[in-house]
Amino acid sequence: MDVAAPSLAVTAGRAPRPADPCAFVIFGAAGDLTKRLLLPALYNLAVGKLLPEGFALVGIARAPWSGDEFRDRMRAALEEFATDGVDAKTADALLRNCRYVRGDLADPSTYDRLRRELAALGRSGGTQGNGLFYLATPPDLFAPVARRLGEAGLAKEDDGRWRRLIIEKPFGFDLKSACALNEELLRFFAENQIYRIDHYLGKETVQNIMVLRFANGMFEPIWNRHHIDHVQITVAETVSVEKRGKLYDHTGALRDMVPNHLFQLLALTAMEPPSCFDAPAVRAEKLKAIDAIHPVTRDKVFTDVVRGQYVAGRVAGKEISDYRAAADVAPQSVTETYVAMRLAIDNWRWAGVPFYLRTGKALAARKTEIAIRFRSAPLALFRDMPVDALAQNLLVLRIQPDEGAALHFNAKIPGPEIRIENVRMNFKYEDYFDAAPSTGYETLIYDCMIGDAMLFQRAIDIEAGWRAVDPILKTWSEAGGRDLYSYRAGSDGPEAAQRLFLRGGQQWRPIA
Ligand code: BG6
Repeated sequence: MDVAAPSLAVTAGRAPRPADPCAFVIFGAAGDLTKRLLLPALYNLAVGKLLPEGFALVGIARAPWSGDEFRDRMRAALEEFATDGVDAKTADALLRNCRYVRGDLADPSTYDRLRRELAALGRSGGTQGNGLFYLATPPDLFAPVARRLGEAGLAKEDDGRWRRLIIEKPFGFDLKSACALNEELLRFFAENQIYRIDHYLGKETVQNIMVLRFANGMFEPIWNRHHIDHVQITVAETVSVEKRGKLYDHTGALRDMVPNHLFQLLALTAMEPPSCFDAPAVRAEKLKAIDAIHPVTRDKVFTDVVRGQYVAGRVAGKEISDYRAAADVAPQSVTETYVAMRLAIDNWRWAGVPFYLRTGKALAARKTEIAIRFRSAPLALFRDMPVDALAQNLLVLRIQPDEGAALHFNAKIPGPEIRIENVRMNFKYEDYFDAAPSTGYETLIYDCMIGDAMLFQRAIDIEAGWRAVDPILKTWSEAGGRDLYSYRAGSDGPEAAQRLFLRGGQQWRPIA
């Protein structure tokens, strides 16, 4: 059953204002992230009139480019990667105040030159001295660059100007390294100056989870252990490791996806209603949900968690070879490309409701979804009729692709007998909303520019995520290849993941 087009659009909130004047400083400006994501996202913000009048773009890299050459390269990147056509006037305006600082990130003189550029832009470019430092660098440079910025006095917020630091994932390699990185960053920047990105929070459908839960009267009263049987969170990818072997073989599916993206989805699903819709309130509730995850102690790792590695198969008509045969992957690698787990959340709302999480590469389909399965209705009423079982109600939040939500419920099949079938009421974003072309980074960048930290993580949030998975990482690293299951590329993952379900009749939803 499809929904009708809206007759009365009710929108809450005000139209967004242009961001604060600032210089957007990219460290690692010669890299892919700048071309593919940051420039197109800034351009989309310019199209939406969300960039400030006093906006400047400053790139820092080692390449021997002149300022003009950098500007030309940024324009070429836009032509190649913009999410829609490029309007020359808008691109001109975006690149009007574009500067290039050539230098080594380990060399203090690079930061002296940056300081001079920022001061000049403050005087002539209308940026008011505000600066947003985007670390589009390899992760091992996060701490050194933050330290040099601090030592050069660039982190200081005096004379009413602000300075902010944006950090990409991966944030640490485990709990210990994440704590060390936080400690180092916090020596030079205050917590409220640091914006740790999890790009899942830039997705509209992820932000919509809170709206669905808290802006509707019908879900919250039944969003608890009295009504919900279990929750399944799936982030399935069709991509294999491709050319990322070197990095991925040291990372694996658990580190790459769980303490960050999957836990964000879990936190938004499990959190209590915040007292208001602002960063402190929302982040506090999300943290409580992550903190309430019952630790998977080391003795439970092999019962509550299943790991897998893909072997050759076909994904979407394409032959994929064994993970171990991929470039830069160790021939005997025991790195997992799939992980599934059963988690318990120890609080009044969720006690006894298992949360099943799974993610993997080279799976049957690309699909991110949260499936909430409700408890069965008692069969008693229908016991003398040809009804064997009543399907459980199911609410599926489709995060990507095919963004939307579906509610599955039982309905009578027309006819003289009472026969029942499970039907689906389906909402699709595209039927209702014209989404502006987007890279998924626009909201995140804009929020940094206006100082709204709701979609970013604090040190304690990052550490809570790592804390929950750390025993699993440690146990696996000591266990070598024990219980590492193979799965065929293009399948739904290892069969063994099925054994995580506690009750008969429960199973993973098909991926394709
Ligand atoms: C990244 C992971 O954080 O997220 C990648 O490092 C993964 O391995 C990607 O492919 C998935 O993001 P998305 O937005 O495509 O679901």
